[in-house]
Amino acid sequence: MIRKFVFGTPINTDATVLHIPAEDPQDIGEVILSGDGSELSCKLEEQDIVYGLGEQVRGINKRGWSYASNCADDPLHTEGKHSLYGAHNFLIIDGRRCFGLFIDAPGKVCFDIGYTEHEKMLITIPEPDYVLYYIAGASVTEIVREFRKLTGRSYIPPKWAFGFGQSRWSYMNEEEIRELVREYRDNGIPLDSIYLDIDYMDHYKDFTVNEEAFPDFPGFIKEMQNERIHLVPIIDAGVKQEAGYSVYEEGTAENCFCKDSDGKDFVAAVWPGKALFPDVLNPKVRVWFGNHYKELIDAGIEGFWNDMNEPAIFYSEKRLRKVFGQIEAYKGKNLDIKSFFEFKDLVGSLDNNPEDYASFYHDMDGKKVRHDRVHNLFGFNMTRAAGEAFDRLAPGKRILMFSRSSYIGMHRYGGIWTGDNRAWWSHLELSIKQMPSLNMCGFLFCGSDIGGFGDDTTPDLMMRWLEFGIFTPLMRSHSAQGTRLQELTRFGNFTQDYARIVSLRYMLMPYIYSEYMKAALKDAMYIRPLSFEYPRDERARTVEDQLLVGESIMIAPVYQQNALGRYVYLPEKMKLYRFRSECDYDIEVLQAGDHYVKADLCEVLLFVRPDKLVILSRGAKSVSQINTNQLYLMDYSENGAKYDWYDDDGVSKTYALPQNWHTVCLDEKGTVSIGNYEGMVNRI
Ligand code: GLC
Repeated sequence: MIRKFVFGTPINTDATVLHIPAEDPQDIGEVILSGDGSELSCKLEEQDIVYGLGEQVRGINKRGWSYASNCADDPLHTEGKHSLYGAHNFLIIDGRRCFGLFIDAPGKVCFDIGYTEHEKMLITIPEPDYVLYYIAGASVTEIVREFRKLTGRSYIPPKWAFGFGQSRWSYMNEEEIRELVREYRDNGIPLDSIYLDIDYMDHYKDFTVNEEAFPDFPGFIKEMQNERIHLVPIIDAGVKQEAGYSVYEEGTAENCFCKDSDGKDFVAAVWPGKALFPDVLNPKVRVWFGNHYKELIDAGIEGFWNDMNEPAIFYSEKRLRKVFGQIEAYKGKNLDIKSFFEFKDLVGSLDNNPEDYASFYHDMDGKKVRHDRVHNLFGFNMTRAAGEAFDRLAPGKRILMFSRSSYIGMHRYGGIWTGDNRAWWSHLELSIKQMPSLNMCGFLFCGSDIGGFGDDTTPDLMMRWLEFGIFTPLMRSHSAQGTRLQELTRFGNFTQDYARIVSLRYMLMPYIYSEYMKAALKDAMYIRPLSFEYPRDERARTVEDQLLVGESIMIAPVYQQNALGRYVYLPEKMKLYRFRSECDYDIEVLQAGDHYVKADLCEVLLFVRPDKLVILSRGAKSVSQINTNQLYLMDYSENGAKYDWYDDDGVSKTYALPQNWHTVCLDEKGTVSIGNYEGMVNRI
């Protein structure tokens, strides 16, 4: 049951898709309201767990810290931070009572979840023009489903996008990419996509290609497609200010950029130096910006990643002038304890400065709206511009799209990656905890930069991250310029081990794809915390480093350096598969309870739940080569089991076709049958 309450005069965010009549905000269940609606509070009981907030720091249970929804270009994701790239204002309080809250507010929202007072949650909405949704339900799972119905179906990428992707800032030219593909193929490492970071462009100009590096871009795209490789270019939010550059010229002529307080185009620097931000909150501009993806689609591109769309600002012209002026004043001074640090911070105050976010404007339905009031909608609407364009330009075809910044509602148009993490073990752990919170909010297609983006990775961290990454829908290794090269062929003896681990992803693909599609089509979660499935199990409620992947699998990733195993809690008996490769594994049935489970560096722990089935392929070097006419079944079943297997052509949007659904039956005698299917299936 969803109840809606309106405060002030909210800006329409388009986060939701259901019409719900608003009620008088007198009695909002357990939630206490301050006079003008700028504060919502509720008591937290000792056993309450607070789930949600999507892309954030810390754990699955958000209790004990304060968070701010304020999309931030911050590459240092440490525990002390309050905001990352997304703004996902949905949470669930689960204890003796269970309810969800969605604060649909496009500006900053603060969540003090038992931080100031352990027994209290306080939500502050500094601009109290917003819509509050209160969602009641018998369980967290039911509340998530209601919320997802409210906000619309999650984005579905093409099937090839579930394959492994290799990225780097940046592969500089055709030859580097050819070499990369050769190395992967020679070493038997499965690969479906290669990402083009900013250097594929001509001087960081969106929708252009550096012709020296890629003299025949369409020809090269075709060549890669023949190798079953999809090239995925990055698109940045800032459009370079340069006379003669058509996107800039058109955008200024047609009034498509955000304005400053004098009504002039707002200029801020990003990668290309001075740039302008397309006013994607305006539908007309979305059409204009979105249509530019056509140039790359026509060249053969089938997927994109949208970046720097918080939007990131290196500096504004005004601020740069001011800071230079201030630096001048320190010349010749005896810098002391106070002035030295002030001086030091001056240059640091240039980027992503709140004053800059409060100094430009959007045109929303003819009204001038200051950016900071709608800050969290920018990444959403940049990605929506692309999604809406794809529907016009390539109707019926799925195109890969994921974004760095996001707001609830964007999950209908694309996925996300979790931005500039580091090659830190703690960031592997963070990404394990972020996945279920993102799934709750509708972001099913997500993943982190495997191996870590910033800092130098190590071969063992790469291995453990891959072992987790084989379960995340977006499985991409990416790293920053200047860091140790981190392609899977760069670590000597490990290459073959990496190849074996990535191959497991392709073995699991029928199950992963089926579970993803079911989650998307049924407003469910692909990755869940144990507590969602075993809500009455007090131990399971506290476990944050084991996850359920779809209906049949539990994973327990190893995320500590030099660990050769880990403790695992089993809420029920399960069958452990310890995989070294598709054909090299051992099996052990473990009873419910705590266990220390061995996991050598190149071993993946996969637990199958009782009376559940996992449908597998024999593996392949790319998604299109997976043979679904020869399937395998991994099961833990004493009395037979059933599984609804979903599969489709992977590119069109004909999800509702009856032939996409197959019932897999394993009877008590161990005989397997699959309805609506003519291939072969064997138990492993
Ligand atoms: C941003 C992105 C990162 C990308 C870099 C260069 O930091 O988050 O993924 O590699 O920009 O484009």
